[in-house]
Amino acid sequence: MHVITSVAEMQQIAETARQQGRSVGCVPTMGSLHNGHGSLIAASAERHALTVTSVFVNPTQFGPHEDYDAYPRDLDGDIATIRAHGGTHVFAPSVAEMYPEGFTTSIRVGGVTEVLEGARRPGHFDGVATVVCKLLEAMRPTEAFFGQKDYQQTLVVKRMVRDLFLPVKITVMPTVREDDGLAMSSRNVYLSADQRNKATTIYRALLAAQDLLSETEDTISRQAIEHAMTLVISHVPEFEIDYAVAVDADTLQEQEAYATGDRVALLIAAKLGTTRLIDNLVVTV
Ligand code: PAF
Repeated sequence: MHVITSVAEMQQIAETARQQGRSVGCVPTMGSLHNGHGSLIAASAERHALTVTSVFVNPTQFGPHEDYDAYPRDLDGDIATIRAHGGTHVFAPSVAEMYPEGFTTSIRVGGVTEVLEGARRPGHFDGVATVVCKLLEAMRPTEAFFGQKDYQQTLVVKRMVRDLFLPVKITVMPTVREDDGLAMSSRNVYLSADQRNKATTIYRALLAAQDLLSETEDTISRQAIEHAMTLVISHVPEFEIDYAVAVDADTLQEQEAYATGDRVALLIAAKLGTTRLIDNLVVTV
């Protein structure tokens, strides 16, 4: 598979395809691909003549003490995964290609970036929004696929696309899980065998809250939902909970209570040793 490293070449391939009436789908990734990414590539390949997967570990979305240098990189393995799921092209630019000397522009999305991951990881979503905008401009897709695993990120990308009139459809695909429910993530490789067994507790906490919401007949307090999640996680004392919240699924704002028909996002971030895990479920009460 031809690995495209230049933005100009990528744009030309996408433009030529579109002029020939061949649609382009894209899957932006930071590599270290697993079956979660595979499901996005397969969904795109079903609908589009070209499916471009970008593999770019984006330095601007990592904080100074985060794992940019250690982030797992395996382009050969990624190419095999892309091929196995029906991807047709790989776009793997260098940092210098994406952020040439003198680069100063940044995109800041408001609102949904101000809480949760955005509040804890200053600048993270500026880095995400900026690189996603640049990747879309390079790959020129008609549709771009993202995983629900990074729920807040999907809201940020949708907001940016709407606000900047970007001509692309954003499609969010369900989180892909291991057999025991752990959400697939490139960072799961950091877990020891013991931590890996315990990590599934996050999903069980989300299910406990989901059960509570499905039994709710009228209204339920946010506190009761959040308590159900923290109670499950507290059975594993090694977990350090960052947040376990029930928020409005569109705005990410906390409400005191939720009523029948409300869409609630259940979001958890917790550390197991040095590995920070995130997961979520979106539930209608
Ligand atoms: O979800 C990711 O892998 C990254 O945040 C993304 C969207 C590829 C931007 O670097």
